[in-house]
Amino acid sequence: MNKVSVRDIEVKGKRVLLRVDFNVPLDATGEITDDSRIQATLPTIKYLIDQRAKVVLLSHLGRPDGKVVEGLRLAVVAQHLSQILGQTVAITSDCIGPDVEQVVKELNDGDVLLLENVRFHPQEEDNDDSFAKALAKLADIYVNDAFGAAHRSHASIVGVANYLPAVAGLLLEREIKTLGGILENPAHPFAALLGGAKVSDKVGMLENIMDKVDSLLIGGGMAATFLKANSYETGLSLVETDRLYTAAELMEGAARNGVHLRLPIDVVVADSLSNEAEFEVVSINDIPPDLRVVDIGPLTIDSFSRELEKYKTVFWNGPMGIYEIPQFAEGTRAMARLLADLKATTVIGGGSTAEVVAEMKLADKMTFVSTGGGASLRFLSGKVLPGVEVLMDKEV
Ligand code: 3PG
Ligand code: MG
Repeated sequence: MNKVSVRDIEVKGKRVLLRVDFNVPLDATGEITDDSRIQATLPTIKYLIDQRAKVVLLSHLGRPDGKVVEGLRLAVVAQHLSQILGQTVAITSDCIGPDVEQVVKELNDGDVLLLENVRFHPQEEDNDDSFAKALAKLADIYVNDAFGAAHRSHASIVGVANYLPAVAGLLLEREIKTLGGILENPAHPFAALLGGAKVSDKVGMLENIMDKVDSLLIGGGMAATFLKANSYETGLSLVETDRLYTAAELMEGAARNGVHLRLPIDVVVADSLSNEAEFEVVSINDIPPDLRVVDIGPLTIDSFSRELEKYKTVFWNGPMGIYEIPQFAEGTRAMARLLADLKATTVIGGGSTAEVVAEMKLADKMTFVSTGGGASLRFLSGKVLPGVEVLMDKEV
């Protein structure tokens, strides 16, 4: 990556504003259900502590829409982080203003402070200039480690970099290096396993990776749109009718590029999306008109598995079915188990795919699990992320 890293600059004794993505899932009682994003940022936090910087953490949590939402306060994260670090992580009641400035001023070298949810201010998402300045006032250096939010042109991601030396954190660097690596020089043969509800979310990425992969395996809700484009009956499945043409074009593109594109050969179909649903396995030739596709079937699991065993690099993004409902999670879970056992380089896209892998405790068995959902899709579409673009370039 041609951006200056936190390792390239002197941080000792400096106030470092470290933008992180602590947007972690919480349960109904407000407890953290998956701390992967916190764990992923630890190398940068520990590095800064070791270098005796004054660490000022800044994050969003959820979408409070510019207002204070009690359930989206970051205190629970501060508490969790201080347990992991074995040192106090104080939390402020706001992320800008004289009181916060005073707390920051009193920090000792090696201290860690977490500022309150930056999205409690509407100016954050507006990338408001005076808000960015108020954030910048808290520090000498800005470090972005929030890969998961690097696709957002918000004040704490973009605007603040106008007012401070801005460099990349270790996680951000690793994300760009790994995801960039599978775009630039993947070990071949290279397969992408794609799922999720919609084709429209994935078109940019599909178009961009088409000339880089050797094989595309498509499952999940979006497979229905591809099946329909191939003239199969898809019953009540969600089909993006405005994307049938796109799906057909993508299939043509695959053929042109010599990319082996595989769709399910059998599917699980159900009468509703609930735990009580009646369901059965059918061939894609026999999808009943009154049922919808909810998962890939056992023959598809088998054929995808045998296929994926041949690859040196496998990228996976998107569940194979409605995995939130246990009866329809088997395809997704089987793919997670398979990838965990492959000898290949396995790279997992963020968002729901990363959540499944974390929930199944398989993250350590993958080469890399991205912390960015939207951000990784955007990056793999070949677009420059605004939060990366604003960081200082390395001198060449
Ligand atoms: C995410 O979880 O996708 C990131 O933290 C960004 O959050 P957002 O999608 O609400 O901008
Ligand atoms: Mg998102």
